[in-house]
Amino acid sequence: MDSVTKRYPDGTVAVDRLSLDIEDGSITVLVGPSGCGKTTTLRMINRMVEPSEGTILLDGADIRQQPVNTLRRSMGYVIQNAGLFQHRTIVDNIATVPRLLGWGKDRARARARELMERVGLDASLAKRYPYQLSGGQQQRVGVARALAADPPVLLMDEPFSAVDPVVRKGLQDELLRIQAELGKTIVFVTHDIDEAVKLGTMVAVLRTGGHLAQYAPPAELLSDPADAFVEDFLGSDRGIRRLSFFPSGALELQTAPVVALDADAGTIAARGSTSGAPYLLVADLDGRPLGWGDPKDLTAGEIEPGRLLSHGRPFVHGKDSLRAALDAAVLSPTGWAVGVDGTGRVVGVVSQQAVGEAIRSAHALDRGGEDARAVR
Ligand SMILES: Nc1ncnc2c1ncn2[C@@H]1O[C@H](COP(=O)(O)OP(=O)(O)O)[C@@H](O)[C@H]1O
Ligand SMILES: [Mg+2]
Repeated sequence: MDSVTKRYPDGTVAVDRLSLDIEDGSITVLVGPSGCGKTTTLRMINRMVEPSEGTILLDGADIRQQPVNTLRRSMGYVIQNAGLFQHRTIVDNIATVPRLLGWGKDRARARARELMERVGLDASLAKRYPYQLSGGQQQRVGVARALAADPPVLLMDEPFSAVDPVVRKGLQDELLRIQAELGKTIVFVTHDIDEAVKLGTMVAVLRTGGHLAQYAPPAELLSDPADAFVEDFLGSDRGIRRLSFFPSGALELQTAPVVALDADAGTIAARGSTSGAPYLLVADLDGRPLGWGDPKDLTAGEIEPGRLLSHGRPFVHGKDSLRAALDAAVLSPTGWAVGVDGTGRVVGVVSQQAVGEAIRSAHALDRGGEDARAVR
């Protein structure tokens, strides 16, 4: 988008000289308060709204150079409440665009069924009507319908805003999974900054009047908000949320405070006095965490898993972020977090203090990186 302005006939300037480079194969999120021009911006991309000034280029060519119907068919469009055709079955809703493109009924329906599977809808729903589906299911149908003709671009306008938080999280995870498989170019509108940070490769924060306040990857948005408006919009705990972008793999886990359920008396006594941890984590014979015990109370051969302190929710070392590790430590009754591998077996444990030190060095490294970029 190159210096695009939209002035509605009544004089409202909805978008003001907006310039934005949207990368192929990425998720670009437009976020901002209600009325800041997000929908207008999105609709200018498929020409449902025509810009008053400026140009929009797609793969280098002005979007006005191709017929508007051709343009729209290269762009799937998903809206809040899915916007399904109420009198058509689910399978026929999804088959809409392929049918418009002249596909035969059988082929279009086969494609629709394939897409239902892709977006996590059970095949048994194919012949239902939209009103017979939950809000989350309808939203999945909306995504499937937008993908039906395999368009390179997906435009999504607050698609998940009307569903409850649990369903929304499922839909967001599903979208990330689909995107990893299909590599579409997605422009996603939301007023929810957490959704923007979770989904965006790049996030454009808009301010009322359609001004671009900041355009940055989410981690940078959280670490370096451009101004007070962006900072305010991000909310108060951006420091904590930013930890989601630091991997936990750099944490050095300790194995000395971990003992097996069948540990002998010597091991319990030795680990209790030398591990540096006030409690020992007991793991079952398969390596899964059972809970924390005071070494004084652990008797070899008589450890009762039911009497141990809860081990809390472990974090997956290397896969989860420092935020998850910190959360695990904060919620642990002992102040120590349990790190497990992808199969749930204990890798080691780490103190709150050590997590804090890892956070400080991650920040220092990150600042080093910024300095290096500035120097170049
Ligand atoms: N058709 C229209 N005519 C006049 N003003 C409009 C029209 N559509 C939107 N607007 C105004 O343009 C501004 C941006 O609207 P919109 O793009 O829908 O914002 P958002 O999607 O961020 O909530 C708002 O002030 C809105 O009232
Ligand atoms: Mg809107």
